[in-house]
Amino acid sequence: YPHFHVKDGSLYAEEVPLQVLADRLGTPLYVYSRAALHAAWESYRSATAGRDVLICYGMKANSNLAVLKEFARLGAGFDIVSGGELKRVLTVGADPAKVVFSGVGKQAWEMQAALEAGVKCFNVESEAELHLLSDVAVSIGKKAPVSLRVNPDVDAGTHPYISTGLKENKFGIAIENALDAYRTAASLPGLQVVGVDCHIGSQITEVSPYLDALDKLLNLIDALAGAGIAIEHLDLGGGLGITYVDETPLAPKALLDQVYARLEARKLAHLKLVMEPGRSLVGNAGLLLTTVQFLKHGETHNFAIVDAAMNDLLRPTLYDAWHGLLPLHQRAGATVEYDVVGPVCESGDWLARKRALAVEQGDVLAVESAGAYGMVMASNYNTRPRAAEVMVDGAEYHVIRKRESVEDLLRGESTLP
Ligand code: LLP
Repeated sequence: YPHFHVKDGSLYAEEVPLQVLADRLGTPLYVYSRAALHAAWESYRSATAGRDVLICYGMKANSNLAVLKEFARLGAGFDIVSGGELKRVLTVGADPAKVVFSGVGKQAWEMQAALEAGVKCFNVESEAELHLLSDVAVSIGKKAPVSLRVNPDVDAGTHPYISTGLKENKFGIAIENALDAYRTAASLPGLQVVGVDCHIGSQITEVSPYLDALDKLLNLIDALAGAGIAIEHLDLGGGLGITYVDETPLAPKALLDQVYARLEARKLAHLKLVMEPGRSLVGNAGLLLTTVQFLKHGETHNFAIVDAAMNDLLRPTLYDAWHGLLPLHQRAGATVEYDVVGPVCESGDWLARKRALAVEQGDVLAVESAGAYGMVMASNYNTRPRAAEVMVDGAEYHVIRKRESVEDLLRGESTLP
């Protein structure tokens, strides 16, 4: 990851030594690189040049205001899934006309707030939601622009918890019921049909699941045209993977070239395309720094007990996910195989297993690929205040979220009289 690199034996984010950040700001600490965010954005921007594509950052991956502001400045739209995420994008001054609202369980107040803000589209996931959205829109004198999120029943070949486009998943409207659902949508007074949407999963490394989904959606679009329902845009959701270990990610350009080849072959290249990448825009733009608290050498396992835990980075615990681990300074000498674990009282609290490390108490380690689904999934389990976040920009850095205090956690609680 070019924006995190070793110079004279120590690890840097851009031009800032990570040890300086750990010393000044403490650990656990999330560190992001502004240049890495820009580079990831550029890989999409250059792939869309000359094509009518709107990139809506799937902000659930990392919703810090500073990250959102960068993407807003670069011209991104946003894919939101809650009233809270809407509030965040409005706070950074993003253009609501580039916001799509996804999610299976939107509530009336969230629908109303998004209608008032003037979002581009609601990605609707059930017939019941169509009715509620129409009612909310009518009650405030608006028309809600809608796409139906169609479940194309394709296997994205990814972890079961993050595949979303299979029949058995809770998401979307089954493709065989989609035409009927569109007829309902077209008949409701508060709705305006504008698009077709799907989302097939996350951390996808092959092009074929996208093309399978695309073919099914294009058949649906033809059927809709036959029924007199015209579509302006096609939202092809499903997140490109990143390199955690040795995955070869698919570049946005490789995907888009093949998608456009299909669209042209079917004379549908005039459709506006929407994409909703999250992980691939931020995942490798962030690290989590953590300090070795104790080393514990046992009969069968050696443990490096660090100050970050499953409450800071849940992915290893939840998905058995592999994250690279780098010491900030390479020590000479033999390595020992460690399980790197946190202080939380659960055996599932681990960040990495069986890693050959030459470390001592007090050393700081960087957990790689922590820019996506890291801080956003943090909790306060074990009454652990959440980590701080810092953005490096060249030789400078900016704290973009203060470390939480224990007082922050107790605020709002009370005992019985
Ligand atoms: N749009 C929708 C409707 C989504 O459900 C998602 C992710 C995205 C966009 C962004 O997808 P991405 O480009 O990040 O793949 N916590 C899991 C990932 C869950 C993804 C859920 N949906 C993880 O840490 O791997």
